[in-house]
Amino acid sequence: MSSPENEAMEAEFDTVAGWTEEAVRALGPEHAIPAGCRGSGSEGTLRWLADRLEPGPGTRLLDSGAGVGGPAGWLAAERGVRPVCAEPMAAAARASRRLFGLPSVVAVSQRLPFAGASFDASWCLGVLCTTPDKAGLLRESRRVLGPGGRLGLLVFVADGPLPPPLPEGNDFPSETRTRQLLADAGFELTQTGEADLADSPEEWTRRADAVEAEVERRHGGDPAFRQAQEQSRRVGRLLSEGALRPWLGIAVAR
Ligand SMILES: C[S@@+](CC[C@H](N)C(=O)[O-])C[C@H]1O[C@@H](n2cnc3c(N)ncnc32)[C@H](O)[C@@H]1O
Repeated sequence: MSSPENEAMEAEFDTVAGWTEEAVRALGPEHAIPAGCRGSGSEGTLRWLADRLEPGPGTRLLDSGAGVGGPAGWLAAERGVRPVCAEPMAAAARASRRLFGLPSVVAVSQRLPFAGASFDASWCLGVLCTTPDKAGLLRESRRVLGPGGRLGLLVFVADGPLPPPLPEGNDFPSETRTRQLLADAGFELTQTGEADLADSPEEWTRRADAVEAEVERRHGGDPAFRQAQEQSRRVGRLLSEGALRPWLGIAVAR
């Protein structure tokens, strides 16, 4: 990973992930889940997906592009499942292991170190829009899910050209393209929805904000912090202007 785009993504997804773990340790474990949801955004989004994927104890579930593990940690706490996390950024993968005690591997979603049909369900939150090789990611998701396996997706979709400045390194698909990619990879899309990224309980938001403030207090002068902050500001602006939509999908492997 050496292009400028990937430098920005490394700042956002690796360096800040490590700082987030550090801040959670300073503030207390109750901060881990809200602060660890870096992209999936809201508890309502996780609930919408979990209600449809229906994981329970014994479900073999993969979180593909798990970040620091907040969504997987939430699933473990709420549904008694023990997700496996896969994430290319080492500091983030480490955080998911240390904060939530979950098994995690450093891997891109296009090359997962698992045998075919290893999982009953998988979710992939805010990841498809960060990688140009979307077909490869979905093919690999299909491979590790057995027939009938369920995939949950949160994708930031753009249905037209986006007004600059754009977040670096992102590659937002349209909804139409996302649907086509899923069909090509051997999935049947069974349900769709739109996430409300602001529907978390007040306490959740307060804790996420506290961790962000602690990270800023410790590292606010670091260029990587400012770069990551600018990245999320740009995504936030596109979402608030409606140029990007947080699209949710449930697909079943054919
Ligand atoms: C917006 S964050 C979402 C993290 C997590 N899913 C969540 O909702 O909190 C996007 C994540 O995708 C990861 N990522 C980027 N490219 C990837 C790829 N090719 N395969 C798997 N993960 C990738 C990034 O490292 C980052 O952790």
